[in-house]
Amino acid sequence: RNSCYRETYRPQFHYSPEKNWMNDPNGLVYFEGEYHLFYQHTPHDTRPDFGNMHWGHAVSKDLVHWTELPPAIPPGEDGAIFSGSAVVDKNNTSGFFDEEGSGLVAIYTNEGNKAQPGKPQVQSIAYSKDKGRTWTKYEGNPVLFPTDTLDFRDPKVIWHDESSMWIMVLAVRDHVEFYTSPNLKEWSFASDFGSDIPHIHRGIFECPDVIRIQVDDDPNTTKWILMLSIGDRNGVNPDDPEPPAGGSGMMYFIGNFDGKSFTPDETLESIDTIKWVDYGSDFYAAVTWNGISNEDGRKIWIGWMNNWRYATTLPSKEWRGKTSIPRELQLRTYPEGLRLIQTPINELSQLRKPILSLQDLTIKPGMNVLSDISAAKAEIIAEFEIGTAVEFGFKVRKSANQETIIGYNISNEELFVDRTKSSATDFHSDFTAKHKAPIKPEHGRVQLSIYVDWSSVEVFGNHGKTIISDMIFPDLESKGLELYAIGGELRLVSLQINDLVSIWGN
Ligand code: FRU
Repeated sequence: RNSCYRETYRPQFHYSPEKNWMNDPNGLVYFEGEYHLFYQHTPHDTRPDFGNMHWGHAVSKDLVHWTELPPAIPPGEDGAIFSGSAVVDKNNTSGFFDEEGSGLVAIYTNEGNKAQPGKPQVQSIAYSKDKGRTWTKYEGNPVLFPTDTLDFRDPKVIWHDESSMWIMVLAVRDHVEFYTSPNLKEWSFASDFGSDIPHIHRGIFECPDVIRIQVDDDPNTTKWILMLSIGDRNGVNPDDPEPPAGGSGMMYFIGNFDGKSFTPDETLESIDTIKWVDYGSDFYAAVTWNGISNEDGRKIWIGWMNNWRYATTLPSKEWRGKTSIPRELQLRTYPEGLRLIQTPINELSQLRKPILSLQDLTIKPGMNVLSDISAAKAEIIAEFEIGTAVEFGFKVRKSANQETIIGYNISNEELFVDRTKSSATDFHSDFTAKHKAPIKPEHGRVQLSIYVDWSSVEVFGNHGKTIISDMIFPDLESKGLELYAIGGELRLVSLQINDLVSIWGN
């Protein structure tokens, strides 16, 4: 079945379900040699049917090649199955497993349940004894319900070593709440975060995550990062900031977590500049994998490459929705402070087939050193030394009447993706856009790693410090490439262009 996946716009090295709708990644967990990717899925419709939301399911041994399995958790009397997480219950704290055995427990939101009419969102759990293939819903569900809010969802659960407790971080309208549990069944409120930060955003929180991460790869220094997705919501203060590309976006806070509460490094009043995860419009609901061993030690997450503003109108026919590239997370010190770094996982390099490699070239207006090559999908890794040019960059997925520009504006110190001429953009007025991200040259240089697929570009600037992720829907025949400079010259320090072979064996 994997030999198909050649439909118009079908991602060639990103996961998408064979058929029908997907949104958020859910239940990301590594267990007995497999990475699990569950996701919000409507198995019989290319549009989201929120009353009939399932957890779709795929597994991978390398985070690159995926095998789709039947939907894992279906809705029922308990309501639809919304977003959530999964954990390896190593010590059988839940009592669901045999004495010495361990298994998987999923923690998710039930929406529209019959038990609590008018208070539709509650948290429930289910367990699996066969590596996530089949699931049994806990008879004591729901395990957590709200007191006074309708938006109460997307539980991310992690194990906290120091306190020997499970920690849940939950999105509750305009803030997050932390809960603790010894057994995944009984949850106690611990703290909340976010409601007293002035003018933080104009939306609702969704899909939170909290991780401990090394600072500058030093195992002796760690910090906690709280990551949040922000959903569009009408009627909130229009002066409050919205994600840089509008609609659905993600931000993060760096601080400490003591098992009960999260304390940001900055004082609440000084949080006036939000740290955005991505400056494109199509990276949302990203969460990290649980269960990755301490020896591996990596923090890896994956997002839904989409934006609720136009998600239901995308021009793909057989399926709708896909994931981003899985990204490894790091925390690095810069002159302005600590920043989250995201880079494509190393495993992706197995797909490389070199197309072109160049070094130490002067790029002048009017020339195109890429005129001989073409690619409908590619990895482009480049480093530039700023010269007299005012703008430079790449045009990808180019033909006579289409192109997507990935450029750098030197005087504004701005990276951008311009998809206004990327072709099919008329399905929604918000899609036609140029997205910009602030990024300063480092030692006079700008580094770019660009991933072009049949319907997306992901641009990692300065080794993963600043990112723009955008969908595009060009014709398959638009394969031209251009490296351009405007208003002067600059030096191309190095350039490597690789094809990335299809993960579906095409
Ligand atoms: C985020 C979200 C979640 C919710 C799910 C429903 O994209 O709105 O908050 O659980 O999608 O599909």
